[in-house]
Amino acid sequence: MMDLRHQPKDRAYAQLHAYAVVVLGGIDDDIAGMATMSALIHHAFGFLWTGFYRAVGPQGLLIGPYQGTLGCLDIAFGRGVCGTAAAERRTVVVPDVARFPGHIACDARARSEIVVPVFDAASKLIAVLDIDSEKLGTFDHEDTAGLERMMRWFAGEGRG
Ligand code: SME
Repeated sequence: MMDLRHQPKDRAYAQLHAYAVVVLGGIDDDIAGMATMSALIHHAFGFLWTGFYRAVGPQGLLIGPYQGTLGCLDIAFGRGVCGTAAAERRTVVVPDVARFPGHIACDARARSEIVVPVFDAASKLIAVLDIDSEKLGTFDHEDTAGLERMMRWFAGEGRG
C-alpha cells in the first residue's frame, strides 16, 4: 500500500488516483470499488476513519465498506455531516467537528471531517465518502478536488 503522508497533497492525490485506476480497472462493482477505495485512501494518508455510507433507501444512508473503528449504522438524510452532504449533494468540509451543529460522533477522537457525495453515471447519489481525522483542519480544497475526482472516476465515468 502507498503511504503518501509526506507528499504535497496535489501530488499525493494524483499518485493515488493513478494507483486506483490500476488496482480497480475492469472491476465494475460498487461494493468492490468502495472497499478498495476506502483501503487505498485510508492507508495512504493515515486517517482515523475512511468509508462509505450508501444511499440504499428513501430515508437515508446505511453503513458500507470502511476502514477504522465501528461506524454508526444508519444516518438520516439531512442529519450530521454525512446526511448534510447527501441532502445537499455537495462536499462538506468540517475543520472542527465541535463547531458543526448536529455532528454525529462515532469515534470521540475525530476532530475534523470531509464528506464527498458519490454519484453514478446518471447523476444519482449512490453513497457518500466520509473521512475523519484526529487533527483539526485536516481537509481543504485540495482534498475536495482530489477526492471528488477519484469518486467521479470510480462511480461516475465507469471503470470499464
Ligand atoms: N461524523 C459523521 C458520522 C459518521 S462517522 O464519523 C463514521 C456525521 O456527522 O455524519
